[in-house]
Amino acid sequence: PAAASTDAASTAPFQYQCLARDVGTDARRGVFTTPHGDIQTPTFMPVGTQATVKGVTGDLLRQTTATLPDVTAQIILGNTYHLALRPGHELIRQMGGLHRFMNWDGPILTDSGGFQVFSLSALTKIDEHAAVFRSHIDGRKIELTPEHSIEIQESLGSDIAMVLDHVIALPASTEAVIDATERSVRWAQRCLNAASRPDQARFAIVQGGLDETIRAQCARDLAQHAFEGFAIGGLSVGEPPPEMYRVLSATCPHLPEEKPRYLMGVGRPIDMLEGIARGVDLFDCVMPTRNGRNGFAFTDEGPLKLRNAVHRDDPRPLEANCPCPACRHSRAYLRHLFVAGEMLGPILLTLHNLTYYQRIMHQARQAILAGTFSELLQRHRQLAGADKP
Ligand code: GUN
Ligand code: ZN
Repeated sequence: PAAASTDAASTAPFQYQCLARDVGTDARRGVFTTPHGDIQTPTFMPVGTQATVKGVTGDLLRQTTATLPDVTAQIILGNTYHLALRPGHELIRQMGGLHRFMNWDGPILTDSGGFQVFSLSALTKIDEHAAVFRSHIDGRKIELTPEHSIEIQESLGSDIAMVLDHVIALPASTEAVIDATERSVRWAQRCLNAASRPDQARFAIVQGGLDETIRAQCARDLAQHAFEGFAIGGLSVGEPPPEMYRVLSATCPHLPEEKPRYLMGVGRPIDMLEGIARGVDLFDCVMPTRNGRNGFAFTDEGPLKLRNAVHRDDPRPLEANCPCPACRHSRAYLRHLFVAGEMLGPILLTLHNLTYYQRIMHQARQAILAGTFSELLQRHRQLAGADKP
């Protein structure tokens, strides 16, 4: 009987297995199985909005985890909104789907467009049927329904599709938060009803602003349905970090233990560790890539601004033991690349920052197994200068 149930588990396209729990926190070490490989959690997902993690080929991306013994498959993000507008999901489907189009054979998660409608588009109008907005590229009027978002994501062929949600700006009235949250739950159900690909997982998104009661209710409502994972959205939109941690503490206990949890658009290393401590498994953020392009490097000694004159004649690498391509060069050389406007500078710092983020997640996974996660968290609280929340 044990063998039979193992067999059944191994043929299911999506499966979350918890391997270990931390003692002092709600952190968990797990594996999420997808058709394009097993994701070891907690993990960080680099952002590849327009079918590219900016400046980084697939081979280079794989190098950012190459020295980590526990990584089996790295997962990246794509965006429904951007890819539907340009080059168009029909073209990507014709070209064999997003994996083949961008030549990435690892897992891909696509965001639904809900957040991009909120953050990029002028003149957004949302009613029960759809979000109507103008394209940030050519001003064209576009209607995005939950069904259409799923249709686009099925054309792209991502491993994980996010439901279309209604994201609102904060602060907002309790009435407005409840209205958007309840709509997000109805839209999540419509996404599930519209879905037809067995090789694609659907993740629901918990909304609810900064209100613990609304968040908990939203999590419980979504947990009733057959989603393969649950995301927490509407955070890191300008609220103080302790507010975000409070919302996570109020939300995670209401999500199913046997499904992965994803904190969307977060964040700084300390935010990810605080999320892990509250039971989150997946994160994405533009910070390592965007900050890298802007000459900003993450290190265990704190951030470095490479344009700064103090690096002018510094022979040291960004970090002594970092295996990334940037750390085969001196800080002086990296600074020179940025000051001279050379494209290699942004590429190298992107690779360093992604390598740094992946190392933090590896350390978190190891620490959960070893029972030392609280110490890792404490070290990073001090590094971030953050007070205990
Ligand atoms: N990315 C960051 N936050 C969010 C969110 O609340 N919803 C969606 N769809 N994407 C996000
Ligand atoms: Zn490096």
